[in-house]
Amino acid sequence: MFDNWDELEKEASKCRKCGLCETRKNVVFGVGNKNADLMFIGEGPGADEDAQGIPFVGKAGKLMNMAFEMLGIKREEVYIANIVKCRPPQNRNPKDDEAKACLDYLRNQVILVKPKIIVLLGSVALKNILGQEYGITASRGKWIEKKGILYMPTWHPAALLRDETKKIDFIRDLKEVKRRM
Ligand code: URA
Repeated sequence: MFDNWDELEKEASKCRKCGLCETRKNVVFGVGNKNADLMFIGEGPGADEDAQGIPFVGKAGKLMNMAFEMLGIKREEVYIANIVKCRPPQNRNPKDDEAKACLDYLRNQVILVKPKIIVLLGSVALKNILGQEYGITASRGKWIEKKGILYMPTWHPAALLRDETKKIDFIRDLKEVKRRM
């Protein structure tokens, strides 16, 4: 564990703890306010994120930005990170060993940011943070408190691109987060 951002980010930038390092263009570390009360955790970088080194800048990210705008959430005021920091090839889900290898970075980010609320975007984030026993369909929209942090699981923004009906849930869940803030 590092007690400062510089060392943590430097360590992550040269990480070779799993095979994803072989094909990545950039380590996608995280972005936003490092003292945010609200944090978002996604799954892993896609092609656009890998190219730019910034989370949620592709199609799913643009949709998330639109939801933020609608609800008055400023992207620069929250902190955004992913379960894995390097792009899984063909945008497949991260494997368990890849997620496990990467999780210490995320845990360290959470310790440094000290968010009050964490929004878990999709099943991969939910299962890796709260446990494999959680399912996104049953858990989304419901607060879960663990070790002084409030978690709100919701759909991954990419799921909204595949199924428009999920947009209503997503907005409702983020509205509840906004209310609680
Ligand atoms: N999907 C994610 O889970 N994270 C990103 O950064 C982009 C797309």
